[in-house]
Amino acid sequence: MKWILFLGALIGLSFCGREKFFGDQVFRINVRNGDEISKLSQLVNSDNFKLDVWKAPSTFSRLVDVLVPSVSLQPVKSFLKSQGLEYSVTIGDLQALLDHEDEEMQHNEGQERSGNNFNYGAYHSLEAIYHEMDSIAGDFPDLASRVKIGHSFENRSMYVLKFGTAEGGRRPAVWLNAGIHSREWISVATAIWTARKIASDYGKDPTITSILEKMDIFLLPVANPDGYVYTQTQNRLWRKTRSINPGSRCVGTDPNRNWNASFAGEGASDNPCSEIYHGPHANSEVEVKSVVDFIQEHGNFKCFIDLHSYSQLLMYPYGYTVKKAPDADELDKVARRAAKALASLSGTTYQVGPTCTTVYPASGSSVDWAYDNGIKYAFTFELRDTGHYGFLLPANQIIPTAEETWLGLKTIMEHVRDNLY
Ligand SMILES: *[C@@H]1O[C@H](CO)[C@@H](O)[C@H](O)[C@H]1NC(C)=O
Ligand SMILES: *[C@@H]1O[C@H](CO)[C@@H](O)[C@H](O)[C@H]1NC(C)=O
Ligand SMILES: [Zn+2]
Repeated sequence: MKWILFLGALIGLSFCGREKFFGDQVFRINVRNGDEISKLSQLVNSDNFKLDVWKAPSTFSRLVDVLVPSVSLQPVKSFLKSQGLEYSVTIGDLQALLDHEDEEMQHNEGQERSGNNFNYGAYHSLEAIYHEMDSIAGDFPDLASRVKIGHSFENRSMYVLKFGTAEGGRRPAVWLNAGIHSREWISVATAIWTARKIASDYGKDPTITSILEKMDIFLLPVANPDGYVYTQTQNRLWRKTRSINPGSRCVGTDPNRNWNASFAGEGASDNPCSEIYHGPHANSEVEVKSVVDFIQEHGNFKCFIDLHSYSQLLMYPYGYTVKKAPDADELDKVARRAAKALASLSGTTYQVGPTCTTVYPASGSSVDWAYDNGIKYAFTFELRDTGHYGFLLPANQIIPTAEETWLGLKTIMEHVRDNLY
């Protein structure tokens, strides 16, 4: 008996040091007008409640998801009531969801160890993902290769999978980015599924075959490796990088506010403790700089797609201004077609629009940088769901999410293939 307990403790070891969220809840607050939005901002910006906004209001949804720590539950409820703000509780027991996710992951790791196979319907460690990238390259040596593009702040390797059918040369290329915000695990899981899908469908599915006959695809499944490891060892809800901010007790920069596109403008914070801290200067994050250098050095990228979660949105530039992008009409058309293809599989609906006017201003984002640097086909996906589980999307939704997203991605890449410039 003792021995079994000891074994259990050993298996559980990797997660037991993680931050706990006992009693914390996620509230969904309905903000019906500008007045209510400013009341909510007052609540969120008051430091003593320690709230974490999971989802901001958008043109399509006035519902705001906020993580409320257990100690703030009563005061926040009183505030909402006194201000006449409607709310409901979407996640009543956050820690129970986290525990369930841990158990599933550990169970799966055990099964993978004994079966020596990668389960695409499970979440994985960074190590397992890197290992699977190697396996894909090994299984399809004529099509795929694993390329190191740099390293993270904590010196973890950053790997992309390159898919290409031609020797040498700089073919027009597509960049698929995932996991830049580390808590958005579904984006990483979707990316690695997509990698296997690209490789195994080449030569079978005429669409991906013809795409790869004209273009190369570069896929970066974990754009923020330090953050990803941190979500598995320390705090599941970590979003930023893990770089040290001199003079501050707070760690990390929002790597999707750190690109050189209206850097430090609207929708980013200069406070290192903020979840949307833009960092000391553009490209200060080595993870961002590594991608920028690689793309500039390559010089022939035509498409840049960044996968995030959650909200079910498909967006295009700009995030930093309400001004219409010169190619907005074309991008809108393509995005609508992609959303329709995505929905055709199981009815998942996506809203489509330019980032700034669809969701909120966000300066220094990856897709705005791509667009401003000549990569016309620049899109951001916010994957499943719309808030029922939020960042904690159950593993049994990984494959359905990846499969439907694939239809959207193919629609975009087909358009790029047919409209190379
Ligand atoms: C970073 O990792 C590489 C191997 O991936 C190693 O050669 C190098 O010494 C490491 N650098 C530091 C500062 O730890
Ligand atoms: C940012 O882009 C501007 C041009 O738009 C350039 O002058 C500047 O050097 C860039 N900064 C960095 C850090 O790359
Ligand atoms: Zn994100």
